[in-house]
Amino acid sequence: MKAVILVGGEATRLLPLTCNTPKVMVPVINIPFLEHVIHYLSQHQIKDIILAQRHLSQSIKSYFGNGSRFEVELTCTIEDIPLGTAGAVKNAEQYLDDTFLVLNGDIYTDLDIAAMIDFHLKRKAKATIALTPVDDPTSYGLIETNAQGRVTRFLEKPQWSEVTTNMINAGTYVLEPEALNRIPPQANFSFEHELFPLLLDQGEPVYAYTSSAYWIDIGTPEKYFQLHRDLFSGNSARHSCPIGDEVLVGEQSYIHPTVHIRGPAVIGSNCIIGHKVKLTGPVVIGSGGTIQEDSVIEESIIWRNAQLGQRVSLKNSIVADNCRLNDNTTIEDSILGDSVTVVSGCKLEPGSKIWSGTTVEVP
Ligand code: GDD
Ligand code: MG
Repeated sequence: MKAVILVGGEATRLLPLTCNTPKVMVPVINIPFLEHVIHYLSQHQIKDIILAQRHLSQSIKSYFGNGSRFEVELTCTIEDIPLGTAGAVKNAEQYLDDTFLVLNGDIYTDLDIAAMIDFHLKRKAKATIALTPVDDPTSYGLIETNAQGRVTRFLEKPQWSEVTTNMINAGTYVLEPEALNRIPPQANFSFEHELFPLLLDQGEPVYAYTSSAYWIDIGTPEKYFQLHRDLFSGNSARHSCPIGDEVLVGEQSYIHPTVHIRGPAVIGSNCIIGHKVKLTGPVVIGSGGTIQEDSVIEESIIWRNAQLGQRVSLKNSIVADNCRLNDNTTIEDSILGDSVTVVSGCKLEPGSKIWSGTTVEVP
């Protein structure tokens, strides 16, 4: 079976963390998010994958190529105009001649795909939508179902007053190719506002596959952080990542013998961790990072090429690519976008969100 991943465009960012990296390429435990998704599909024997992109992303192309390094076959489709979620899949119609899968590109889940496909085929559904429970359905697509598990109503981003259930669209669909006939070619058309309500109006069999499997949409930095916490605490069963006190160190990295590490921690390649640095997990340090003496890092995620000076204190924070935290800086509960510089001695207000894209001098 083939799968279409809705990758979105260059504009699909994880703001304010990065303006330079497409959302699907943000590192999760030092691996691009999309690689986790591809690995997940591959584990479920789905090896023929279409990446529906708004624009050709050079970073995706150069990292994934044709997919052979990941033992899958990747095809990319590109859009001349923003086609929306369903329009993007219509744009890939030439590759889709049998029952297929669609995934939002920003979802990390343990959903049992084989069981969902089986459910879809047994009911002879035109479309089956995975459902997951959430605390706040207002940021998602709310889905009402009847006793037979058929979808009766689809309400994208409801007001609180409209909330009738905590079940939402989990962003994974099994579809029959005939569903594509309802999508106009080369026009902006969404599953959420258009195709699903249309199929329901026409009385087509649209089913809900409800699951309590691990699920998260990494659409905000807070959710992105939560995914790390969940992976490190073993809440998602499917990916091997250090838990407990484990420490993983990449190639060519040097860790001074006086460094104190309490896991879980993942240190990328080509890092230098200096004299008496203290790391208290969960901690992730991307490749090319340098942490100078007496710095303390607790429960934080650091992307590539970070330069941390001496006696830096970093706690419960995310630091995107190419940041420089100079000597004696204190950063807590904060999000630092790409290429942020924090000048020596500066103590950031807890909860700071420093925008990426330019070098910001924080006074
Ligand atoms: N190729 C392409 N072209 N991809 C697109 C386009 C487009 O025009 N528009 C959106 N996408 C991709 C996004 O990159 C993302 O991977 C996915 O489609 C969903 O878009 P989001 O922008 O992340 O939507 P959302 O999170 O607000 O809501 C969607 O996901 C929720 C679950 O996380 C909806 O499907 C909700 O109904 C759902 O509950
Ligand atoms: Mg999303």
